[in-house]
Amino acid sequence: MVGTLGIALGAFLTLVVVGLHFAQGTEYPTPDDISQQVIEQRAESVPETDFPEPMNRSIGGGGVAAGAVGEGETEGELAGSEAEVDDDPAAIPDDEAESFDVEFVKEGETIEVKENTTLLEAGEESDWDLPYACRQGQCVSCAGHITDGGNAEQYVEHHTQEMLGETELDDGYTLTCVAYPTDDLTLESRETP
Ligand code: FES
Repeated sequence: MVGTLGIALGAFLTLVVVGLHFAQGTEYPTPDDISQQVIEQRAESVPETDFPEPMNRSIGGGGVAAGAVGEGETEGELAGSEAEVDDDPAAIPDDEAESFDVEFVKEGETIEVKENTTLLEAGEESDWDLPYACRQGQCVSCAGHITDGGNAEQYVEHHTQEMLGETELDDGYTLTCVAYPTDDLTLESRETP
């Protein structure tokens, strides 16, 4: 009796499983992609701004896209970056660059250095083995001493130097890798503050 009931139950369950396997499921409608709709709604809800905003608020206003920035500001930014380029003495064209007499005391020679050339580059062009490391004004490997008296920046323009404080500059120290001459000067190379 129990065996018959078991077989019947097994057969029934098998039929149910087979039936479910072949049954067509109810069709679940896949929603359309609503991401574009969400973006558009978000764009409408965020007010237009006339300045760049962080990326997470860039939809509909601001952002780094050029179109979101006011025309005047775009011009202003361009003018600013051009001004930065102009600040770099290395950008002065060769035929417009003024030259200055630089006496390299330890090397025993006075050479002409253009205002678009660093003291380090000028020394290297003369085949002197001058010390350097970063070449970006961020260490003191290339330091030298301007011995004409007064602040070093009376004689050179430092482009991007970050190591010398006012006291060192007042004492005449310079970082030759970023020092462009603005006057005649006397330099002792290999002199650190
Ligand atoms: S080489 Fe580093 S500051 Fe000049």
